[in-house]
Amino acid sequence: MSNTFALAYLVSAALFILGLKGLTSPATARRGNYMAMTGMVIAIIATLFSPAIASYGLIVVGLAIGAGVGLFIAKKIEMTAMPQLVAALHSFVGLAAVLVAIGTFLNHRAEGTLNTGLMAELFVGTFIGAITFTGSVIAFGKLQGLIGSAPIKLPKHQLINIGLAAAMLFFGFLFFMKGSFPAMLIMTLIALALGLMLIIPIGGADMPVVISMLNSYSGWAAAATGFTLQNNLLIIVGALVGFSGAILSTIMCRAMNRSLFNVIFGGFGSADDAEASPMAAAADKGVKSAAAEDAVFMMENANKVVFVPGYGMAVAQAQHALKEVVELLQEKGVTVKFAIHPVAGRMPGHMNVLLAEADIPYDIVVEMEEINPEFPTTDVVVVIGANDVVNPAAKNDASSPIYGMPILEVDKAGYVFVVKRSMRPGYSGVENELFYKDNCSLIFGDAKEVCEQMAAALRES
Ligand code: TAP
Repeated sequence: MSNTFALAYLVSAALFILGLKGLTSPATARRGNYMAMTGMVIAIIATLFSPAIASYGLIVVGLAIGAGVGLFIAKKIEMTAMPQLVAALHSFVGLAAVLVAIGTFLNHRAEGTLNTGLMAELFVGTFIGAITFTGSVIAFGKLQGLIGSAPIKLPKHQLINIGLAAAMLFFGFLFFMKGSFPAMLIMTLIALALGLMLIIPIGGADMPVVISMLNSYSGWAAAATGFTLQNNLLIIVGALVGFSGAILSTIMCRAMNRSLFNVIFGGFGSADDAEASPMAAAADKGVKSAAAEDAVFMMENANKVVFVPGYGMAVAQAQHALKEVVELLQEKGVTVKFAIHPVAGRMPGHMNVLLAEADIPYDIVVEMEEINPEFPTTDVVVVIGANDVVNPAAKNDASSPIYGMPILEVDKAGYVFVVKRSMRPGYSGVENELFYKDNCSLIFGDAKEVCEQMAAALRES
């Protein structure tokens, strides 16, 4: 029986790894998801046959509630609300780790089977779980708009955090040495406070990186629970999540040319400090504005058009209207491509997901390194609600906060149209040099409405 178990868990683990591999490309992402889902089904069935299970009553109720809530959320959730959903789910992992640790401790204490190894696992599982729980709840609150997204900092904030961390370790040590339950509870309460204190000073705009970091923590909490429950699959899956979250955070930071340290302690470019600059100032500064029809006229006479989607496309949900524009242009013999910046939008793969949702073929969706050499031979670029990822200041202005961030070099194309509603800056709060270039015009308006106007003009021409 134990061999069958081990085999089932091994197959699940392999399917999870293949699932992750599938998720590395939009073309294989669906297959990757199916593999991971199959792995999870095998894991659940194998676990249900575990000899350790005494009765099925509560398990069936839990499964039914969990599956029902999961189904409801999956059907309801908007793509733009995905980051906060992920934060909410991480909080459950953290809370589960804490509860499993407390339950396991009480059980083993009653049976007199506590040992040093187990105590160390319980200690680690409890504090990582507790930090993940409150950290994720705060991240959820900020992204959902329940808590202001501006960074909240107490006087001597970092000093308080150091004090809390020291107190948590002290009580953890007491728990480890003496097996004291009150010490465990105090350590848990301090870790809960520390999770809150770590995340509350981070601006809402940096939350995607934080979420990926909490993703990593939740993986380590799950791995610690796996050690506690002596469940190899949970250890493997926890480590996969732990490492993938850490790698993702690093990739995001690199693509923004910032360090993880700077994200956690920087309080950079929160959504609240992006102040609206009046549109009238645009004309004064030499910004040219154009109509959707002007862009259509140039696009239908072009050989190659590249669209650059950004956060604004996600907000406006413009991808379906944009797909129609693409099809109409292709019918007229124009070569159309999409240029994707690794941190366009607000979460990794944000643009890929939206374009896939609109059934835009993968082969015309091109990553930054590949498309950049093509801009000098591109006749028209249309930027749809992107800003920072096309700002030449990242290359030209050493004093700019985004200096060093790799960008899509759209200014090298024949002509650039930028679709956005105003002169407001993007996520970084930095003004965009591109708007003042001779070969650039702004089309002011909601991205979806402008795309619909473009499609209408193309149909009529
Ligand atoms: P942003 O630089 O944030 O610019 C988005 C632009 O969209 C804004 O300037 C806004 O201008 C416009 N917009 C908003 N709603 C719109 C609507 N309904 N219709 C038309 N336009 C609209 O976006 P980006 O270029 O995609 O860059 C992403 C930024 O987020 C980068 O700075 C990146 O470092 C940061 N970031 C990304 C991630 C990930 S993983 N993707 C994670 C953390 C941070 P108006 O208000 O004038 O319309």
